[in-house]
Order: sequence, then structure tokens, then C-alpha cells
Amino acid sequence: MGGKVTVVGAGFYGSTTALRLAEYDVFDTVVLTDILEGKPEGLALDMNQSRSIEGFETKIIGATTTPEGAGYEATAHSDVVIITAGLPRKPGMSRMDLIGVNAGIVRGVAENIAKHSPNAVIIVVSNPLDEMTSLAQIATGFPKNRVMGQAGMLDTARFTNFVAEKLAVKVGVVKTLTLGSHGETMVPVPSRCTVNGRALSELLSQSQIDELVDRTRNGGAEVVALLKTGSAYYAPSAAAARMAKAVIEGSGEVMPVCAWVDGEYGISGVYLGVEAKIGRNGVEKVVESALTQSELAALKGAAEAVRAKQADVQTL
Ligand code: 2OP
Repeated sequence: MGGKVTVVGAGFYGSTTALRLAEYDVFDTVVLTDILEGKPEGLALDMNQSRSIEGFETKIIGATTTPEGAGYEATAHSDVVIITAGLPRKPGMSRMDLIGVNAGIVRGVAENIAKHSPNAVIIVVSNPLDEMTSLAQIATGFPKNRVMGQAGMLDTARFTNFVAEKLAVKVGVVKTLTLGSHGETMVPVPSRCTVNGRALSELLSQSQIDELVDRTRNGGAEVVALLKTGSAYYAPSAAAARMAKAVIEGSGEVMPVCAWVDGEYGISGVYLGVEAKIGRNGVEKVVESALTQSELAALKGAAEAVRAKQADVQTL
């Protein structure tokens, strides 16, 4: 296949994403960076030594970078860049509590990435997600379709897992969908949730569904509370890596992602969780589907909530 992907941030989220991408064996090179000297190099060395066991040829390169931009040469001409940089939550924190500190980090990273990889597709995973995605687009100056955020894949996967566990069925027969923000205004879409093709509402009561939706909305916080240090990374990295794979393969897969919405659903001018066709240019198209009145109202509510925060972020 070929191509180069950079993962910025060698914490658990970044390093797990880098390893997943390498194991897909679709990129020539995975670059992993961090400001902690030696950490990305050490992880890359370790991952490369697993290549003959796992049977993949992708080369992993570790590079220490500085906020001023040293070390970013290693990332040059990346096709895809995943930004995981920033602090994770501590127990009791909301994603929004991270906005001040992470805005500075994400802005600096985005500017350095833009200098070295002007044609890349950027996938943001730093929190608060919708706001950091918007900020990365502003800081890179890239076309909005080439900057997107990872959240819907993760929230949907969590919801699917909870439904499968509740009904004791395989995850493969469950389809769920969440739109809106990665946070308080996450919007479940019950009309698109099915099990073996049957509507979820035929299999679970409204209160049971509400309980699973609530657990999904708090899915990240539940993991943070258990871990006590750091936040989730296995499911989040799976989601981010799949998005990068869809980009490099130009697969045209429709995925729930945080994308720039410009008229779809009667909503304009905001980064929001929607379904989108993912290809070589990032978001090829926001895919609008039929929603019930209450689902649409909830999506519009989410858009206004994140719009206000995204306006704040421009000055951070
Ligand atoms: C989560 O929901 C890290 O925001 C991510 O776990």
C-alpha cells in the first residue's frame, strides 16, 4: 500500500494507535513523536522488534520533538497525522476541564505539523474533542475536509458493546449510531440501532435503552474512574487507527466522525459528530440520513452547545 502516518504523542493512546497502524501493514512508515526525550524512540525500537513475530513490514520511527518545532522533520510529508497530544482527564474531571491547557498544546502541534506536512489529513483525538478539532483546523489553515476528529466511532463502539452485553449477543450483529458531541451532548440515534436487523426498541424497554445511552455518554469517565491515572486507549486507538486506514486506502467507508458541517441537517459552520464518507481527502462528504424529529432536535442542540465552545477556542 504505502504512505506515511504520524502519531503525535507517545502516551498510551498514541503508542497503541501507532502499533495498531503498524500491524495493519498498510503504511510504509509510522512515525511516533513525543516531547519526552527517548520515549518515542524507545517505543519504536520495541515495536520494530515485534515485526517478525507479528509478520508486518511497516517501519516505526520514533522522534523526540520540542514545542518550538525541533524534531518535526521526521514527520515530513506524512499522508495522515493523528494528534493525541495533550493531557488526559483525571477522575472527576470533564473533558471540558482540559480546554485551556490542551488548546495551547494542540495549537503548537498543529502549526508544526502544517509546516512539514502541508498536504496531510489530520485526525484529532485530544480533548475536548470537538473544540480541539476546530482549533487544529484554524491552526493549520487546512481545508476543513482535511481536518476531522475521532469520537463517533468510539462512542458507537461503546454503545454497541453495552447493547451486545445486555442482550448476550455477538457485537457483530449489533448496529448503533451516536452523533453530536463527544461529551454531554452526545446524541444517540435509536432509529438507527438494530440487533440482527430488528429495532433495538423491540428488544429493550425505553428505560433500559436510556440506561445504556447514559453509560455510553459517560463511557470515558467510567474508564478514567477505574484507572485512576490516564484515560481509555484500547477502544479509542482502534477508532483512530481505523479512520487513518480508511484515509490511506481511500476506502469511502461511512463512519461517524467529528466533521465540519456546512448545511447538512440545517446546521452550518461547526465541527460536529456526523456520519461522513472517508477517503483520501479526509471527509469526502457528510452523509445526511433520515432522523426522527426528536433526534434532529437533539443534534441541533448539540451543534449550538459546541458552536459556543468552538468560538471560545479561537482565542485560546
Ligand atoms: C474517551 O472517551 C479518551 O475521550 C476519550 O475515553
